[in-house]
Amino acid sequence: MKIIEKEVVREIDASRAVVLWNYWDHEHLIVVHKNYTSAKIIYEDEKIAVYLLTFKLPVFSFLQSKSLNVMIQKNSNTIKVYNVGLFGLPSATTITVEEIGMDKSKITMNYKFVLTGWKLILAPFLPKMIIKWNQQVWEEDFPLKIRRQKVLRDGFKDFIGLPKNVSERIFEDDLELILPIVRHVHSPVNFPL
Ligand SMILES: [Fe+2]
Repeated sequence: MKIIEKEVVREIDASRAVVLWNYWDHEHLIVVHKNYTSAKIIYEDEKIAVYLLTFKLPVFSFLQSKSLNVMIQKNSNTIKVYNVGLFGLPSATTITVEEIGMDKSKITMNYKFVLTGWKLILAPFLPKMIIKWNQQVWEEDFPLKIRRQKVLRDGFKDFIGLPKNVSERIFEDDLELILPIVRHVHSPVNFPL
């Protein structure tokens, strides 16, 4: 048995609430990320989400895979994601979001895959796949986070919009994320379980 571990650290001009929102906003997955082809939420509450994903494999993009994922908001700045998906490998991802300034965050993404049996031959390829996957997802998510940060500071509220009066379009308090994120009753990520 072998554990492959890879860590990626990035910074962005967005608050922790916005970075966490991006992880819990399941509806964007198939719209924004070209490698995800289906996302269905089986269960969600204020701390946990259980969901099914279908995705194209990094590097081997002609192959599709499915995963059952469990995402947990462990504390105010740590998310844990557990899944079995890529090549049937059990994996754990730990995402830590640290506010390092006003509307500025440092994100540490730690990936661990457990390899056993014939899957040990994947060991040399996995770090490259993780880096490629992380880079692509980061680039696809980046404009969403920057845009969300901007509109929240303009006083935007989900399902309500911006303040009608332009002079009131400013919000300077702490930004907070309330889970689960409210979805439309006919959201495409709903799943009948
Ligand atoms: Fe994303």
